[in-house]
Amino acid sequence: MVNKITSLAEYFQKYNESVANPEGFWANIAESHYWHKKWDKVLDWNFEGEGAPDVKWFVNGKLNITENIFERNMFMRKDQVAIIWEPNDPKEPEVRLTYGELFEKVKQFANALKKLGIEKGDRVAIYLPMVPELAIAMLACARIGAIHSIVFAGFSASALADRIIDAEAKLLITSDGGFRGAKSIHLKNIADEALESCPSVKNTIVLHRTNEDHVHWVEGRDIWWHDAIKGVSTENKAEVMDAEDMLFILYTSGSTGKPKGVVHTTAGYMLYAEYTFKNVFQYSDGDTYWCTADIGWVTGHSYIVYGPLLSGATSIMFEGVPTWPDAGRFWDIVDKYKVNQFYTAPTAIRALVAQGDQWVKSHDLSSLKVLGTVGEPINEEAWRWYHDLVGKGRCPIVDTWWQTETGGIMITPLAGITPTKPSLATLPLPGIQPILVDPEGNELKGNGVEGILCIKFPWPGMLRTTYGDHQRCYTTYFAAYKGLYLTGDGAKRDEEGYYRIIGRIDDVINVSGHRIGTAEVEDAINQHHKVVESAVVGYPHEIKGSGIYAYVICEDLSDKEQATIEDEIRATVTKFIGPIAKPDKIQIVSGLPKTRSGKIMRRILRKIGEGDATNLGDTSTLLDPGVVEDIISGAKVEV
Ligand code: WT7
Repeated sequence: MVNKITSLAEYFQKYNESVANPEGFWANIAESHYWHKKWDKVLDWNFEGEGAPDVKWFVNGKLNITENIFERNMFMRKDQVAIIWEPNDPKEPEVRLTYGELFEKVKQFANALKKLGIEKGDRVAIYLPMVPELAIAMLACARIGAIHSIVFAGFSASALADRIIDAEAKLLITSDGGFRGAKSIHLKNIADEALESCPSVKNTIVLHRTNEDHVHWVEGRDIWWHDAIKGVSTENKAEVMDAEDMLFILYTSGSTGKPKGVVHTTAGYMLYAEYTFKNVFQYSDGDTYWCTADIGWVTGHSYIVYGPLLSGATSIMFEGVPTWPDAGRFWDIVDKYKVNQFYTAPTAIRALVAQGDQWVKSHDLSSLKVLGTVGEPINEEAWRWYHDLVGKGRCPIVDTWWQTETGGIMITPLAGITPTKPSLATLPLPGIQPILVDPEGNELKGNGVEGILCIKFPWPGMLRTTYGDHQRCYTTYFAAYKGLYLTGDGAKRDEEGYYRIIGRIDDVINVSGHRIGTAEVEDAINQHHKVVESAVVGYPHEIKGSGIYAYVICEDLSDKEQATIEDEIRATVTKFIGPIAKPDKIQIVSGLPKTRSGKIMRRILRKIGEGDATNLGDTSTLLDPGVVEDIISGAKVEV
């Protein structure tokens, strides 16, 4: 068993130990896992030079992550509930799967995948709503050594196709549809559209969820989930994997180009997900834990499925949304299952703050012990509401900073151990060595400094590469500052050494805790036949944290076209990416502020989007300074 830190003094002791002797620190944790063969060497690494980044943890170790979830614990946890599934509609019955039952389903589905010819190393794309089969599918992949690539079910056909093509997935697992609040989404139709451009996909497995009447069917390619497992054995021996074999790919946006496939490998990710889950949330046997994220994002991978299940926890999976049938849904669920640890996003908290306190006050939330947040900076007002009203001042808040690339939580309080301050992620976990640098890469030493957040030593959960393009991994994360992993966030280290995450320093917008690359949105907007050019920036948004503001140059528009152009642009973005990337504000402009070398000065556009035209800086280098006045006068905010 992975031991938990139990006091602040112990945290500091472990932290120092992990810096002085990282290999000994992590090897000690790895001793508690089930290995077919132990490692020859704990760590091989290189952030610079030939082939960089080159990071290997537990070199030549052999294992399977599902054996560490199931076989390792089965003698004591067979009848304990692993997953509680709460459906979208509260009138539909919940599902409880014990570790024993989940194990049988995973093994059976693993055999079904094998029957379809899926082998170790093959990529399997998964495009499912939040149903238990999503967890079963990912664990079945891990069981046979196939690499899962989960695509959030809110992405469009075109975004799904991009991800399938990049990973050259052989199989797609989807469903007829999915429920979210009052809506139902026809996932199979979207998947069919995507598959028109995905020759690598030989089969699709389709789960019955919404019982759509007219599911389009491609004979020979499509198989119902229930048919795929019919008569299939539940006997299955796990594939023996190398510590550094790929476990999964998860696509995420950056400041340039198409989304990158972030690659996580088996042993390091496993250790890190389990260690961070237990320590951050201070999970104890018998607790009921709920993370409200979608498994389509990394939070769901690490803190609904892998971290909790490796720890033998009872993890809740929720299909629906916080405000349906009403704004009390989260608290209904907390009360119904007597949730002890609750983990959500600032955007959800802010949305609920706006609905009024009565939704919280009318529920019994006395089971709660720990509250968590993730995905974006939490503003002080939301933090206080969460702390005072939801937690009644008794529950520590863990503000957890991390990224798709880091695999697990990096900077965070340990619940009930690290003294918290509103809006501060506080201290690095053991094994994590953050460093702040100035734009030239000089280290900012001491406390009371603000700079670019980098990490200077490998940790087991870190990304190993970007799928199919290792050079891109180097360029994106390791090229800016020699020997450092660049997070893309700015941060402040206060007088006490606590970290406050300020936000992205690159052209990435954090919308409701989701990363949206400005270039990606611009590419989508530019697909509209009337659009000549566009520039997208983030602006402060009360609920979403950041909203998307698009400045668009169009060809001559008739009056009729003028009336519909904004809706059409939004529809275009929805088509190419998905509704999450839809611009909140669209301003049709005659020109964009460009330097003489043709570079768009986003700084100016950001300022205007914030409603502040006072400090636009030097505009004299602009090709046409008059453009700025025009944009200000037509702005969609009070400037
Ligand atoms: C970016 C990573 C990690 C799971 C969810 C998002 C921002 C994340 C915090 C936090 C301030 C945060 C950062 C980071 N972020 N957590 N506690 N405080 N900012 O994963 O999509 O990979 O996004 O989210 O800007 O770089 P992601």
